[in-house]
This record gives sequence, C-alpha cells and structure tokens, in this order.
Amino acid sequence: MFSLNKLSPTITDMIRFDHSHVMVTFHQYTASQKPTVKKALAETICTALEIHATLEEEIFYPVMRELEGSDPTILKAEPEHNEMRRVIARLRTTKAADPQHDVLMHELMRDVMHHVADEETVLLPDAERLLPADRLTELGMAMTRRRLQLVTPQAGKIAANTAVGFSGSTAAMVLGVAGAAFAAFKLIPRKAHA
Ligand SMILES: [Fe+2]
Ligand SMILES: [Fe+2]
Repeated sequence: MFSLNKLSPTITDMIRFDHSHVMVTFHQYTASQKPTVKKALAETICTALEIHATLEEEIFYPVMRELEGSDPTILKAEPEHNEMRRVIARLRTTKAADPQHDVLMHELMRDVMHHVADEETVLLPDAERLLPADRLTELGMAMTRRRLQLVTPQAGKIAANTAVGFSGSTAAMVLGVAGAAFAAFKLIPRKAHA
C-alpha cells in the first residue's frame, strides 16, 4: 500500500533545506537596496531563523543530547541560538536607513554561517550515522507538524514581507512550506536505486 511516510523528508534533509534557503535570502540583501526592501528581507530572515531555531531546540537537539550529550557542538548549539536572537532583537529595533542595520545584518550572517557549518559537518552527519532511516523520517514528520503550528499565526506578516522582499516561491521555501514538493523530488533518486 502507498505510504505517505515515504514522501516525508528526513529531519536532517529538512534542516539542510532550511539552511540553504536562509542563505539564499541573505544573498539578496545588499547595501544599495531601498530601506523598505532591506527591512522586508531582514524580517523574512529573522522569522525563518526563529522558527528554525525553535524546531531544532524542540525536536532535533534533545535527540542529539541523548546520543552525544558531551560533544562540544551540541553543547554550544543552544547558546548560539540565543546569541542569534539577541542580534535579531537589535536588528528589529534598528531602522533600515540607519547604517547600523547593514552592520547587524552582516553580524547575523557571520554568526549563522559559523553555526550552520558546525551543524552540517558534525551534528547532521552524526545523526545520520547513529539513527536509523525510519527514525530520521519520523522526526522529519514531527518537524513538519510543529512548523505548521509555528507558521500559521504569522502567515499575514510573512505574506506582507514576501510581497516587498522577493518572489513568493522563494519565501515559501525559506519557511519550509514547500516541503511536500521537496519530498517528491527526493523520491526520484530513491526509486532509481530501488
Ligand atoms: Fe541551530
Ligand atoms: Fe540549523
């Protein structure tokens, strides 16, 4: 019988997917843009990062702490999210026309790049080595369910920022709403190797 579970991306692929699309949004932010565009891009990035950090803290990090609780990468992961939240709070209270807005955006980008590098070279490979495929898929489904709960109350704000910032399809991917399309894409190589 056809199973919807098979359509669900693993938690590790979802995390990589979120990282890629936050980076795409960072790359759209340049110093020469109009303040309204800068603010919309900044807010899209901040919202996507907040949702991603909450999902990792609630669903991914507790599992990793059980597997390798004394690993320095998992120990510093949540404090790094909190540092990121402090930069986000300062960014939100800074006008986009203020030169400090660019400085804070670059600080956030640098922090996120370091953090993402640690996750993608340590935590995600460790999770894939230590957990069975079924468990990775099950955690991916839990992440999708929780993401919908977190995104729904913010849908209006997200749509408004998307209209000013960039194309709707990119924003949908930043927030992981396109997860089903991604899952379908991932099915192709799996079937080919079946
Ligand atoms: Fe993280
Ligand atoms: Fe992450």
